[in-house]
Amino acid sequence: MAKTVWKPGTMLYPLPPVMVTCGTMEKPNVLTIAWTGIINSDPAMTYISVRPSRYSYELIKSSKEFVINLTTAAMLKAADFCGVKSGKDIDKIKESGLTVLPCQKVKAPMIEQSPLSLECRVTEIKPLGSHDMFLAEIVAVHVEEELLDSQGRFELEKSGLIAFCHGAYYALGGKLGSFGFSVEKKKTRKQRIAQIKHERRSLKKAEKTAKKTGHESDSKKKPFLSKKSALKTTRRKKTYPKSKKAPQ
Ligand SMILES: Cc1cc2nc3c(=O)[nH]c(=O)nc-3n(C[C@H](O)[C@H](O)[C@H](O)COP(=O)(O)O)c2cc1C
Repeated sequence: MAKTVWKPGTMLYPLPPVMVTCGTMEKPNVLTIAWTGIINSDPAMTYISVRPSRYSYELIKSSKEFVINLTTAAMLKAADFCGVKSGKDIDKIKESGLTVLPCQKVKAPMIEQSPLSLECRVTEIKPLGSHDMFLAEIVAVHVEEELLDSQGRFELEKSGLIAFCHGAYYALGGKLGSFGFSVEKKKTRKQRIAQIKHERRSLKKAEKTAKKTGHESDSKKKPFLSKKSALKTTRRKKTYPKSKKAPQ
């Protein structure tokens, strides 16, 4: 394949367009951040890179706290809005129709509508050029109870998470495999069919919920893998070393 060389740029996609809350319950602010990620497992650590010109920058710098809230399709308009308007001019929480809840370990609030919020405490600020990187420890995690199944498994895949890719927002497509599937022992045909049926039932349930709340996802347009292609995936040859450990 022929390639064209471009000048250096920030082209690493997809990214999570998270909504970062800062300030206090009484005077909260929120901004959208794409420059974020996990940088350590133990202790659980993350970062956000923020331009010093943002209103939120001083709030985070002085309090040394912020909350990362994952963003769903239902929150997309609010996420975009909070990424183009500044808290120095308006109350973005109020204007976007979001609501906030108090956190446990930090004074910054979390967004009620988010399925997953990470309370963060800043450990280091690294000026990098255009942005300052706030390295932070994740000190508490809040998950939406409605997404816990009867066994307590967190069904985050049903929340409608979105991705930011090359200047646009996308719904996530269907599941392609689980961690370690490439080295998994062959499942019996019966097990595979049962798994596919379970996934289809879960999808239908998620669509029903989305319909009820008026936030239909793109899953209708992009259905899950067909039974045929899913079976093909699980029939892959075992070519990689066996490792079931999650990436650290
Ligand atoms: C999808 C998206 C991603 C963004 N990512 C970042 C980011 O990583 N860092 C940053 O400083 N600004 C980012 N912004 C811009 C800020 O969210 C925006 O300037 C916002 O208005 C700042 O709000 P504030 O002035 O209330 O702090 C992003 C905006 C959007 C829409």
